[in-house]
Order: sequence, then structure tokens, then C-alpha cells
Amino acid sequence: MPVAAEKLDAGKLDEGDARRLEAQAPDKQLPEASADADRYIPPLPRVSIQVFCETSQANSAFSEAAADRRASRAHMTVQMGGITAAREFYVEAATPNVIVVESTADGNGLLGHLDRLAEVCDPGTRVVVIGHANDIGLYRELMHKGVSEYLLAPVDAILALSTLSSLFDVPGTDPLGRTVAFVGAKGGVGSSSVAHNVAWAISQELVSDVVIADLDLAFGTAGLDFNQDPPQGMAEAVFARERLDENYLDRLFSKCTDHLSLITAPSTLDKEYDLPGNSMEPVIELIRKTVPTVILDVPHVWTAWAKATLLGADDVVITAVPDLANLRNAKNLIDMLKQARPNDRPPIVVLNQVGVPKKPEISEKDFGAALELQPFTTIGFDPVLFANASNNGQMIAEIQGNAKPVEAFRALAEVLTGRSELRKGKRSALGPLLERLSLKKKN
Ligand SMILES: Nc1ncnc2c1ncn2[C@@H]1O[C@H](COP(=O)(O)OP(=O)(O)OP(=O)(O)O)[C@@H](O)[C@H]1O
Ligand SMILES: [Mg+2]
Repeated sequence: MPVAAEKLDAGKLDEGDARRLEAQAPDKQLPEASADADRYIPPLPRVSIQVFCETSQANSAFSEAAADRRASRAHMTVQMGGITAAREFYVEAATPNVIVVESTADGNGLLGHLDRLAEVCDPGTRVVVIGHANDIGLYRELMHKGVSEYLLAPVDAILALSTLSSLFDVPGTDPLGRTVAFVGAKGGVGSSSVAHNVAWAISQELVSDVVIADLDLAFGTAGLDFNQDPPQGMAEAVFARERLDENYLDRLFSKCTDHLSLITAPSTLDKEYDLPGNSMEPVIELIRKTVPTVILDVPHVWTAWAKATLLGADDVVITAVPDLANLRNAKNLIDMLKQARPNDRPPIVVLNQVGVPKKPEISEKDFGAALELQPFTTIGFDPVLFANASNNGQMIAEIQGNAKPVEAFRALAEVLTGRSELRKGKRSALGPLLERLSLKKKN
């Protein structure tokens, strides 16, 4: 049973409360390290957490949690204003991975406020509520509505950390991160450019953490594209085998921006990479434990490990240019993936470098008809824009924020992170449950 439920069921102070009160007693000079402090709390993954408090007590507890070593990978902001401020904020902004809201309202007041917050909450966002009402009925109703956790105030830093950590460390549940494999229907079609720019859109526009893993060990361009000269992360991770764990992996990341990290390829030729089929899997599985989206930049090769990586990804994005060889290769890839993954959504096709002067092309419509799958988006041929971006080690959005491809990258970012609802007006993570509840009430 969650900590909060136990507290509520018992309807009384627990050990943590007792220790806090004892520590606050006037004759105590220094509070003793609480027994809770010895408890192992798994470090928080690379997630965004925004906390809206009503009391200064909660504010200082969550600020302390945010500064704790176990929260060093996460992005945690703490502010005042409670649910009302949160609602106002998210009318415009995308919601983070976790929202924590404190409310001093009674049961009905709290439920009313949460309903209004739910209207602006994106799917996939987890909501933790700090309340002042000790009421098991309320707790149950909140859980029923899709709230991840209800904590009875006052909450200290350790309880805040352990609650947040437990949201992502539940044995037997799905790992945190979704993996998206980007592959070209031929070499040089722009698959890496699309992958990197989509990752940028996820990190900058959707403000969600993302890692790019460059699987093109010999020739990868992720380091160049982001103007980074970091350790040869990906090869080291692959060859580390049983030595690989989260701490080892942390060293191999190079941080590009607050929300975007790379694990780059060595891009040297002193080794050959004839890897066994299962070589990438343990690395990918470990990365996805620490971050909500993992972009896999898969080279245009057909090896056992490349095939296994495409088959194992949550989504596959195939970039193609509109000619016959690309069409044939894209069709073969799509048929293979559809057959091997009948219960997954089909791959997403990006038609790139469309409109090269004087070059005869297959039209988007004919390309889609032959594939039996319409391209999700089309990106025009713009050599100046793309060459400027790669020569400067920058993304397209940094070179020209209003360029057409930026819109395409954002749309892809939204679909791949499940945020596409943002465009049609927000739908809440709590929405389906709220709908079910109101249906029940009507019946
Ligand atoms: N829409 C576009 N218009 C013009 N140039 C583009 C476009 N998209 C990509 N490019 C350019 O094409 C070149 C190849 O791009 P990129 O390296 O992303 O392709 P790739 O499919 O990953 O290639 P590889 O097979 O080497 O992995 C780069 O110079 C890039 O700047
Ligand atoms: Mg590439």
C-alpha cells in the first residue's frame, strides 16, 4: 500500500511525522539524520517535474528534494500558487512528465480544482497531489481519477523524493522511455538530420528529456551535428557488456542542452563493427530506464543488430527521397516490419529532399499509394538551410525558427511522444477517467 494510503488509513501521525515534530522541538540543536535518510531511494530519471505549492513548508521540502543528489538528473522546478497557478501555466505550456500540486482545500474543493487542471493536462503526465485533508474516501476518489499519488501534508524532502522516485521504479511495469528508431530507405537521404531535429523539437519545444543514441559506430554524425566532441560513448557502452550500469552509462552521455543528451559514435575506422545481433539491446534497455524518449539513429545497413534494433523499437521512422530505389527499399522495410510486428502501429514515413531542381520525382501521392502508407510529412530540398545547419553544428530551428521543416519536425515530435493532441486542443491524462466517472454518475 502506498505510504499516503497507510497514513490515511491509520488516520494518525506516522513515524516520519513524529520524527519531524521531534526535530522541531526547541531543545534540539541539530535534527538527527532521519532513519528514512538511510533508505535506498533510486535516483530520479531524466524527467521534468514541476511543483506548485501553497505553503512555504511544502516549498522548502520540495526545494530541498530538488537539490538532492538523487534528483540531479531530473529537472525540477518549485514555485508557489498551487493548482490555480498550475492551471494558468499549462493553458499555454506543454505539461511536464510530473506535476506536483499542493492544495489546502477540503475534499470537494480539491476535486473541483483538479477537474479544472485535468482540462489542460497532456496525456502521459503524472499528477501527485499534496493535500491537507485526511480522508480515505478522498484518497480513493483521487486514485480513481488517475492521480498517481496523494500525500498528506506535511511532506518532508525524503518523502517527496521517495514518492517521485517510486513513480518510475515500479517492478513489473513498463520502462520509462519509448524508443524510436530512425532509418533511411537508402544512405544519405537525411535520416540522421530528421532524427536529430526531431530530438531537438522534443527537448526544446515539448520540453521533455531525450537522448540520441548514434548507432552508426563508424560514420555517425550526431557529435558533428551538435558540435560536440565527447567520449566515444556508444562503442564503449556496447563493449562494456556486464560492466555496464546506470553510473557507467552516465559518464558516456554528453549533454547538449538541459533536456537533450547524446551518446555518440566514435566515428573512427580503427575497429570493425561486425556485432552480434543482440549487441545493442542491453544498452538501449538501460538508456530507456533513464529518459522518456530515446532516439536511435540507425545507419542504412542490413545486419543482424540493425534488424533487431528496428524490430525492437516502439516506433520506426523511415526517411526516403522520392525515387524508385527509395520506394522499393521503403516498401520492403515496411512489409517486413508490418509482418514481424502485427500489433504495432506501422512505421512512419518521412519524404525528404522533395523538389530537387530538374530531378524527376515520384509524387507524394504515388509514393504513398505504392507503399500503401501515406507519408506522414514531406520536407523540401533546401541545400542552403541544411548545409548551413550541419556546417555550424546547429539544428534547423536554431538557424531559422520559422523554416518549413521546423513545423514538420515538431509534428513528428508530437506524434512520437503522444502529444499530438496538443494541436487539436488539450486532452487530459485524467480525461478518460473523468469521462468514465461522469458517465457513471449519469447512469
Ligand atoms: N531536406 C534536405 N534538403 C537538403 N539537404 C538535406 C536535406 N535533408 C538532409 N540534407 C543533407 O543531406 C546530407 C545527408 O544527411 P544525413 O547525414 O542526415 O543522411 P543519412 O540518411 O543519415 O545518411 P547516412 O546514410 O550517411 O547515415 C546532409 O548533408 C544533410 O545536411
Ligand atoms: Mg545517418
